[in-house]
Amino acid sequence: MERVLIVDDEPGVRHFLKKILERTYEVDTAADGEGALAAIAAAPPAAILLDWKLPGIAGVELLRAIRGRLPEVSVVVITAFGDTDTAIQVIEEGAFDYLTKPLDLDTVREVIGRGVHVVRAGEGAEIREVAPGERLKGNQLIGNAPPMVAVYKQIAQVAKLDVTVLIRGDSGTGKELVARTLHRYSRRASAPFVAVNCAAIPENLLESELFGYAPGAFTGADPHGRPGRFEQAAGGTLFLDEVGDMELALQAKVLRVLQDHTFQRLGGNATLSPDVRVLAATNRPLEEWVAEGGFRIDLFHRLNGVTIELPALRDHFDDLPDLLAHFIQRLNVELGLHLRGFEPAAVALLAAYPWPGNVRELENTVRRAMVMARLDYLSADAVRDALSTQAHAVGGIDPRCASLVEQAFDRAVVDGVGPYAAVMAMVERLVVKVALARTKGNQVQAARLLGITRTTLRKKIEEYGL
Ligand SMILES: Nc1ncnc2c1ncn2[C@@H]1O[C@H](COP(=O)(O)OP(=O)(O)OP(=O)(O)O)[C@@H](O)[C@H]1O
Ligand SMILES: [Mg+2]
Repeated sequence: MERVLIVDDEPGVRHFLKKILERTYEVDTAADGEGALAAIAAAPPAAILLDWKLPGIAGVELLRAIRGRLPEVSVVVITAFGDTDTAIQVIEEGAFDYLTKPLDLDTVREVIGRGVHVVRAGEGAEIREVAPGERLKGNQLIGNAPPMVAVYKQIAQVAKLDVTVLIRGDSGTGKELVARTLHRYSRRASAPFVAVNCAAIPENLLESELFGYAPGAFTGADPHGRPGRFEQAAGGTLFLDEVGDMELALQAKVLRVLQDHTFQRLGGNATLSPDVRVLAATNRPLEEWVAEGGFRIDLFHRLNGVTIELPALRDHFDDLPDLLAHFIQRLNVELGLHLRGFEPAAVALLAAYPWPGNVRELENTVRRAMVMARLDYLSADAVRDALSTQAHAVGGIDPRCASLVEQAFDRAVVDGVGPYAAVMAMVERLVVKVALARTKGNQVQAARLLGITRTTLRKKIEEYGL
């Protein structure tokens, strides 16, 4: 039987908690800090219920003293209702959880159960160890599954050539990482790698960002003029990220650089021809964009000559263990943690999720799980918790969204219409409305934002009378 220690200065509370816990656990009690430390020394518990307001020693000090003696113990702190500052402090200090008074029986049982379980899981669990972070190679592509090996082969074939490469793949699949890798293996490796995110820079600024401007080009500009990214990348590589978001007029200028290797600064007349290799990336279907007139077909062909297509994470789940080990190493360094590895069962949990945000989403999930980890390795439980807070996790939908869907569902049932069509229509209408609001009613931009064609958008607007 696991041992649980109750620390509270009120005899009534001690008695009451002891009564409900002693059916399941060996229960000790203490009335103050000194008593608690003595009880721990006599018989180390798996979990401690600790009242934050004890006479004498302050809660923080006692918590630190306890954790100093028994680092693995799950301490559940009891605070007064509504004391959020203490709640945060308590978790920062390494408490397992906190409860507020008045105590709810079922919650006490549940939290203690989890606390005890976590400690038990730490004993004798089989862990896949990761090498310490010092041997880390930054910016390394991880994965040996066939779709990743195919990517490496393509990188090897084109890295040394000066050709333009279009890197395609869904969001978070590693497009920028591939661009950096191409640069690193090129003959230009010692020259600059300059990345420009065409989606992040406002359209009217992108041109001067890329090409720079001449002295006196416009009011308020630097009187000496300024070099653009093309010039900054001289001798090296220019990476045009999200190239599909460039406006048509600018596309023409970029095409000209790719064809003639010449351009002029804004407001300048000197013709410049820096030696730059261009790489581009997109997560949008450029073909459709071309068909709709949003992207120049000649630029598309020019970029699309050599293409590297990155696989979605769900198409190379065999790489999950290596990716997990890689992120633990990297994030140990970044977060100042010392996790020594992960529980193999965690991998199965990760493989049950579809990863719409691909490797970047995986990295964020691992980060969240590591921050919350209570043991010196990444447990399956920690991964399960991190996944359940994922906005679109299977079965773990954001509660606000879930309640909205439930309302619409129930109303449809009452109205006697099919809930599927009704709920989908509601969501679709909202999505279109949000996109139109964000783009101030500009249909071209809204369609682009939504990732649908303008024709489709127009149909939806009509359908929902927006
Ligand atoms: N194969 C991989 N091995 C190791 N890390 C990876 C891999 N793929 C992606 N990452 C990591 O995932 C994160 C996202 O990668 P990156 O920024 O290259 O994706 P992206 O395709 O450019 O995404 P977006 O379309 O959202 O811009 C980065 O931290 C990157 O280091
Ligand atoms: Mg990117």
